[in-house]
Amino acid sequence: MAFRVVIGLPRDAQYLCGERISFHPALGPYYLGTMDRKQFLSHSLKVSVGALVGAPVLASAAACNAAEETKAEEAATSPEPTTAPLVLAQIALPYDYAALEPSIDARTMEIHYTRHHAAYVKNVNEAIAAEGVVAKDEADLLSRIGSFSAKVRNNAGGTWNHNFFWQVMGPGGKGAPDGKVLDALNAGFGSFDKFKEAFTDAAMKRFGSGWAWLVERNGALAIGSTPNQDSPMMDMSELKGTPLLGLDVWEHAYYLKYQNKRNEYVANWWRVVNWDEVAKRMA
Ligand SMILES: [Fe+2]
Repeated sequence: MAFRVVIGLPRDAQYLCGERISFHPALGPYYLGTMDRKQFLSHSLKVSVGALVGAPVLASAAACNAAEETKAEEAATSPEPTTAPLVLAQIALPYDYAALEPSIDARTMEIHYTRHHAAYVKNVNEAIAAEGVVAKDEADLLSRIGSFSAKVRNNAGGTWNHNFFWQVMGPGGKGAPDGKVLDALNAGFGSFDKFKEAFTDAAMKRFGSGWAWLVERNGALAIGSTPNQDSPMMDMSELKGTPLLGLDVWEHAYYLKYQNKRNEYVANWWRVVNWDEVAKRMA
């Protein structure tokens, strides 16, 4: 008759029902597994009972099988492993394409959302799958973006930045913040007008394509810009912090209406800033 043999041993010699080679400081290497009665008796004679903390215990195969079945049931009901590929999503545009007229024209909004932004989302998900990128969520991915390819970096940034951008704009803009946002900008930059001037300066001086940002970092506000689709949430970004407000200064964001006049685009953009969304993101 076959037995599963389970021997009570010190903590450094854990037992289990399956086959296993382990080590006991007094007995040397030993084998825990399936033995027949003859093998077990022979084995037991070689074992100094005094060297063992607990007495040898015979567990029936049924007991072990029950334990293994329990493990199998637990595995079947456990959540999916966290190694499932991350899939990034494009948010639904919170307003119509024409909602930000005349600051941002409907055609630009439609192309920007359906072609440029949608392409970033498609491309990042393809890159994540192709490169086997594993991340807990979007924020985790951005915080380790320097470890991944340029394709993942550019398109993950493009996905996150535009999802953020759509939300910090809206129709019926107040033109200026109030409440805690106004207080924070006054405290951080002297006045709202000085904040606007500094933010506009960052947007105008970003050479080529990129973004201007207002971020919160260690309890303080900061203005800066990033190139291409880099984000302050990225580990390798020169500007780091929690984005509160962002402005896309890629030409695709304004060229149809403003051509090369980025300054006019930025000046009119202030009318569609959604300060309530900025307030939500402020600690
Ligand atoms: Fe864009």
